[in-house]
Amino acid sequence: MRSTPLTLLLSAFLCATGCSDGGGDGGGETGGAGTTGGTSGGTTGGTGGATGGTTGGTTGGTGGATGGTTGGTTGGTGGATSSSVGTGGGGTGGGGTGGGGAAVRTPAASAATMREAGEKANPPILIGAAISGSGLGDNNYKRVAAAEHNYVTAENEMKWDALEPNAGQFSWGAADNIVNWARDNNMKVKGHTLVWHNQLPGWANNLNGAAAVEQAIRRHIEGVMGHFKDRIKDWDVVNEAVLTDSDTGVGNPRMRPSVFQRALGERFLDLSFQIAREQDPTAKLYYNDYSIDALNDKADFVYEMIKGMVERGVPIDGVGFQMHIGPPNNKADGAAVAANLKRFSDLGLEVLISEMDINRCGGQVSAEEQLTFYHDIVEACFVLPKCVGITFWGINDGRSWLNGWSGALCNGQSSQSLLFNDQYQKKETYNRVLDALLGR
Ligand code: G3I
Repeated sequence: MRSTPLTLLLSAFLCATGCSDGGGDGGGETGGAGTTGGTSGGTTGGTGGATGGTTGGTTGGTGGATGGTTGGTTGGTGGATSSSVGTGGGGTGGGGTGGGGAAVRTPAASAATMREAGEKANPPILIGAAISGSGLGDNNYKRVAAAEHNYVTAENEMKWDALEPNAGQFSWGAADNIVNWARDNNMKVKGHTLVWHNQLPGWANNLNGAAAVEQAIRRHIEGVMGHFKDRIKDWDVVNEAVLTDSDTGVGNPRMRPSVFQRALGERFLDLSFQIAREQDPTAKLYYNDYSIDALNDKADFVYEMIKGMVERGVPIDGVGFQMHIGPPNNKADGAAVAANLKRFSDLGLEVLISEMDINRCGGQVSAEEQLTFYHDIVEACFVLPKCVGITFWGINDGRSWLNGWSGALCNGQSSQSLLFNDQYQKKETYNRVLDALLGR
């Protein structure tokens, strides 16, 4: 059974706190100090922009010279000129006296694909997929990937071991192939991932001392962001820095021991974001983690960690909630995800679902539960304008990373975790996701 759409509930809540119902000039709850207001109203006005956005985002930008012309979810910070279209661009909807923005996202009236539903929503929402180099050797894979998505994350090809296998020597071929294919298909790319304890080359894992580790982080971020500077504006800067006793996010949350944490302590987080911001003042910089999707020990710990970063002025734009549901990760229902996304977005950050799949192996998630989770979790993001994207971790079941990993309890069986079957036909999971993207 489908749950009641969250749209109305969220709308009522947000309007109670100052929604202008798409109102006119300067309709934001809080006016900024700029010259000209936005034209569509929003929740919070920007500060110091010369010109407001014409449609606006939820949160105005800070100090941008020119607001966006179509608007997005969150305004940029200090950009000279904001982007002109949609979500995720720097400084959308910023500036002015009450830069505008929608309190809720309005779905498209109809759409034949998830991509179309995302592009026609107001504000638009990115529909993403993890793309693998091997997948791009398969025409059916490529066809479905490009028809249904407009946002790409390289599944493995942009990790540290792939890009900098030897200290200071970069290897771009496999990553360039994915990025160029995405651009050929008008898809945006999120760089994944700059600083992560996993898939590190041996030389990086063996670094010793604060100076050496800091130098390696700096060289890697500068090298990678520099190479892709004109092609990638969204980055997972730090991935999975927090650990709990269980992969489900329960028990003794703490900073994860890693070569970075051991050498620099928690400072490696701030440092990584600061280096990334120096490298690209207009990029969107994200923290990304698993089993923080609902309300549990790990999510609470990460919430406090991110809140501290925001309060310290660390240049972070948003948080990615991986949304690997089912073994070995957490189980999260739509209501808990909605509450969790909301509290992070209330920090003034974008949120996004960054690696979604729902594993059926091990019998922990029934077929009916999987459909409900897919619908309700996608809906929880969709209704929140500051939830700027939903990325699925793969295209079809047969290529899912879960199938071959012992922790996922598949034992050679398919995880049945995605939206397309092995013949690239849409599954019922796809229908439920499209329903949620169309407000049904
Ligand atoms: O490329 C080698 C190949 O040469 C070798 O023959 C083969 C034998 O095992 O291994 C291949 O590498 C594998 C690689 O995927 C590419 O297929 C690695 O063993 C395997 O460990 C690796 O798994 C990846 C995993 O990250 C590693 O941590 C998954 O594909 C990838 O989907 C997964 O993605 C992560 C996100 O980046 C971060 N969040 C969690 C998510 C799921 O674990």
